[in-house]
Amino acid sequence: MLKKVAIITNGGDAPGLNTVIRAIVKTAETHGIECYGYIEGYKGLLNNNYIKLDSKTNASGLLHRGGTIIGTSNSTNVFNLKCEENGQIVYKDMSQKCIDNIKEAGFDCIFTLGGDGTQKSGRDFSLRGVNVIGVPKTIDNDVAHTDVTFGYNTAVSVATDALDRLHSTAESHHRIMVLEVMGRYAGWIALESAIAGGADAALIPEIPFDIEKVAEKVEERKKAGKNFSIIVVSEGAKPKDGDIVIKKKLDDGKGLDNIRLGGIGEQVAEDLEKLTGLVSRCTVLGYVQRGGTPTAFDRVLSTKYGVKAMELAMQEKFNVLVTYKHGEMSYVSLEDVVGNNKEIGAPSGNTAKSNIRKIEMDDPLIKAARALGINLGE
Ligand code: F6P
Repeated sequence: MLKKVAIITNGGDAPGLNTVIRAIVKTAETHGIECYGYIEGYKGLLNNNYIKLDSKTNASGLLHRGGTIIGTSNSTNVFNLKCEENGQIVYKDMSQKCIDNIKEAGFDCIFTLGGDGTQKSGRDFSLRGVNVIGVPKTIDNDVAHTDVTFGYNTAVSVATDALDRLHSTAESHHRIMVLEVMGRYAGWIALESAIAGGADAALIPEIPFDIEKVAEKVEERKKAGKNFSIIVVSEGAKPKDGDIVIKKKLDDGKGLDNIRLGGIGEQVAEDLEKLTGLVSRCTVLGYVQRGGTPTAFDRVLSTKYGVKAMELAMQEKFNVLVTYKHGEMSYVSLEDVVGNNKEIGAPSGNTAKSNIRKIEMDDPLIKAARALGINLGE
């Protein structure tokens, strides 16, 4: 019988985190289970910093609230923690301290709300005897084995709204308007918002692009009397003869994706201006994509994820990720989510072994984009 469970929200914040917390807490309370939340993700687990959550006080009024009430961290890999000792940088495996903290608090299960990196650490904890249930959070929609992560729908809605607004300036000034969106190494946000927002081109990491082909699309539109174009560029997109554009190399620790992406949108705008003669401007959408209130879809999806996570815990089906596949709530082992990235503490993110879900070329979104004449830089 479960008595006490704890929630960890880790990685970049995403709309719907508080909704999942609310759903887990409410479901737990119905069954007389106590719920706690670690403060600031895995950092809170390491520092043994947690609070009680209950639907009468702190876990109330959360449905529409962005961010996470228990905080998050995307720079703490407890299996390879960056520390300073006698003026030297050293890397330490602090996972045993975390496991001792969980045991001491008496938590029967931890819920890890996060993306691929968070789930990788969750799986590593599960191999050391911790009961873990993962919930796939990320605006990037790139977690393996689930069709939709929570937070993604809100990000696409925000990007689509931005495209609608950029249309006004594009049309009035006869300009090329480039919108750079997030998504890391997967183009889901870019492609779906391009379709929803009626963009003329969508450049995604999965298809290294030929800028000449994008320019041809703009020229075609000019010939047809449309002296403006809208281009969506995913932050991880790269030219076919070039590389991804890195804004900053970080040094947060081993096993973390120490790269801040950004800048490809500006590059595309400059190149298109040279090639077409049309004035081009770039807008970087940035963190508005993952802030603020979740859409109704994300509220419902996050609620379903939270309820299913608590149900799985009560059935003692541990060391799994809750999934949403073909419209059904289900689960898959964390081992499968990690894919070939088996080594404990190994880096997550864009490595050859990682299992992030990119857009396949036979995805209906690719087919729809091509059918509509949205140029994919090919
Ligand atoms: O993974 C979510 C995400 O918003 C990515 O789309 C983006 O590249 C990254 O996080 C930015 O991370 P940070 O909050 O560290 O700047």
